[in-house]
Amino acid sequence: MPVTRADMPKLVLCNMGVEGQNTLAGATARGAYSRIAKALAMAPAAVTDEVKKSNLRGRGGAGFPTGLKWTFIPKGAQTVYLVVNADESEPGTCKDREILFWDPHLVIEGIFLASYALGCRHAYLYIRGEMMREHHVLQRAVAEAYKAGWLGRDHACAGGGSFKLDLTVHRGAGAYICGEETALLNSLEGRRGWPRLKPPFPAVKGVWGQPTIVNNVETLANVPAIIEKGGEWFAGLGTPKSGGTRILGISGHVNKPGVYELPMGIPLREVIYDVCGGIRGGRALKGVIPGGSSMPILTPDEIDVPMEFDALMTDARIKPVEIRPGVKLDIGGGKQLRTMAGSGGVMVMDETTDMAMVCWRIMKFYAHESCGQCTPCREGTGWLERVTRRLAHGEGRPGDVELAESIASGIAGNTICPLGDAAAWPMLAFATKFRAELQSKITAAPATAHGAA
Ligand SMILES: Cc1cc2nc3c(=O)[nH]c(=O)nc-3n(C[C@H](O)[C@H](O)[C@H](O)COP(=O)(O)O)c2cc1C
Repeated sequence: MPVTRADMPKLVLCNMGVEGQNTLAGATARGAYSRIAKALAMAPAAVTDEVKKSNLRGRGGAGFPTGLKWTFIPKGAQTVYLVVNADESEPGTCKDREILFWDPHLVIEGIFLASYALGCRHAYLYIRGEMMREHHVLQRAVAEAYKAGWLGRDHACAGGGSFKLDLTVHRGAGAYICGEETALLNSLEGRRGWPRLKPPFPAVKGVWGQPTIVNNVETLANVPAIIEKGGEWFAGLGTPKSGGTRILGISGHVNKPGVYELPMGIPLREVIYDVCGGIRGGRALKGVIPGGSSMPILTPDEIDVPMEFDALMTDARIKPVEIRPGVKLDIGGGKQLRTMAGSGGVMVMDETTDMAMVCWRIMKFYAHESCGQCTPCREGTGWLERVTRRLAHGEGRPGDVELAESIASGIAGNTICPLGDAAAWPMLAFATKFRAELQSKITAAPATAHGAA
């Protein structure tokens, strides 16, 4: 049974709002680095086993089981890297920056524990360039951790050996694509931030050609609690296949927007109407994006769903996204996508929202951020932006909604990385669920003011 809000311990945001917590003195007084001795007394594989038992799933978007990912490092690998993904650029997502600001030492401790499990001696944290405040706090914390000897110094560990970790913070330059793990690795190497073809996966051939694990900030910030209380305890907090808690960044037309640590699987309705105090001005809900702008939008009749990785994709109460009558959005392997938990960025829209405008704004973002490597994404996202711009300005042409669907269908699944899907999925969802509204933006006269095609 997942915990309720009343009995849920805060694992990651426990120090949010606590002044002085983000310094070493403040963090140590509240337990930072206390889990390291316990981990060092265990064999590295036992640390990974604990994480496997915990059912911790990646919080960067895909929800892949973390412990299982760690086991993909080839046996006997000499040089292994851990790369922490702090690029956080998905519109609507704002959790990692809060974790980094309020508890950088928790993140460093999580990095230490994961590195020990993986046999990584030098970890990298790739932080989004615009996060000046968080970068400053993090750099100070890293310097403190070096001075205190948590980093850069040998620690005796199980089996009579020693373990030493170095940590480098690397600033990106504000490109959304560099959050995609292989583009991030290219950028870290000083190359253009273009995604790599997989396989080989980073766990086999990652940064500088070496086995590499890429994990999100929130994912790693959960590891200290797993080591302290045990994997089973952590698993017991969540749903059968997703352990722990979930951080949601909720924005839009609610009375109390914010970043909240909540029980895994909390119903979306409870998030909107209870945690966030309902819709501003007592208005009606029109739509909600549950996990960052790349995730298909849900309508008011779809919010009785647990906010949990599997349920959002497959909950029978949620209708699959139908591209056109009878044709559902297939994300491969016969799985039909409803929506996804994604990066935890919940965007709530009330009845006054112009969905054509929202759709255009989202398409504009992906067209701007497409790295240009794959033709369907490079050409398709720009085309979608032009078509939705016409609709948003009431200058749509007959057939524009069908055209948008056809372009999106041509992008989905046909690119090296999922940025193409990130544009296609929401487009298909808007065209299905708010079709009448988009159609109402079509004028008989062909418009030319905002570009051809
Ligand atoms: C276009 C794109 C952008 C992404 N941006 C981020 C990001 O900003 N932060 C992040 O942790 N993961 C991001 N991801 C997911 C990463 O590729 C990767 O799955 C994740 O960092 C793995 O960490 P986890 O297993 O701990 O979730 C992005 C993926 C794509 C396709």
